[in-house]
Amino acid sequence: MSKKLVVANWKMHGNLVVNQQLITSYVQKLLPFKNIQVVVCVPYPYLAQAQLLLGQTDIAWGAQNLSKDIEGAYTGEVSVRMLKDFGATYVIIGHSERATAYCESDENIATKFMQAITHGLTPILCVGETLIEREAGVMERVVAKQIDTIIQMYGAGIFADTVISYEPIWAIGTGLAATPDQAQSMHEFIRNRISIHDKSAAQRLKILYGGSVNPQNAVQLFVMQDIDGGLVGRCSLNTDEFEGICRAASEISPS
Ligand code: 13P
Repeated sequence: MSKKLVVANWKMHGNLVVNQQLITSYVQKLLPFKNIQVVVCVPYPYLAQAQLLLGQTDIAWGAQNLSKDIEGAYTGEVSVRMLKDFGATYVIIGHSERATAYCESDENIATKFMQAITHGLTPILCVGETLIEREAGVMERVVAKQIDTIIQMYGAGIFADTVISYEPIWAIGTGLAATPDQAQSMHEFIRNRISIHDKSAAQRLKILYGGSVNPQNAVQLFVMQDIDGGLVGRCSLNTDEFEGICRAASEISPS
């Protein structure tokens, strides 16, 4: 079992004052959990603040999106080089809240994934199905398509040392997390899908679960064979809850 990874996705929350308090208490409270990796993905304007406050700590920081282009006349976009300028080492890609609202295609997401890797950032690729798709029993087909687009464009080897986060859309922000069995089953499916093409990449890939992770359900989820940690939204905005989730990860993670 590899070291657990817990990623905070702040989404569009925070301001300079609140972030300062939150990050300062993250640093204090998460200090004992040395056997896990914690990452905080902040809104773009706060990358400099994250760099300033986290630079001397073991907590890494990153962004929640990036442009598929490197430079040019792309008003409002932020490139991978700009993220690196602020010390970001991770970036969330293809989150369903973006994919739906901003019509991101699987091809665009694949290009962003490649862009991150090429420039030395670890991408966290979000995949997952809607409730209708789950009820129709096509969730594996939906997730397979999201992954296969990347495999077809760049080959399965690209997944080595990257992160996929399985985030069933029906579980995000609803308080209704997937059961550990539902999550494990999809995580195993994802790993196998990549393993068919590249066994080593599949083993080196981390697969997180995201969607209403909280201190109460974290242990049961993280203990599952193919769940390498969590991508946490709401509970990452409360230090006590986030600490509870990190504690759960630390209890299971190899020391
Ligand atoms: P919640 O933890 O608020 O359900 O959000 C999950 C998520 O979207 C993380 O990216």
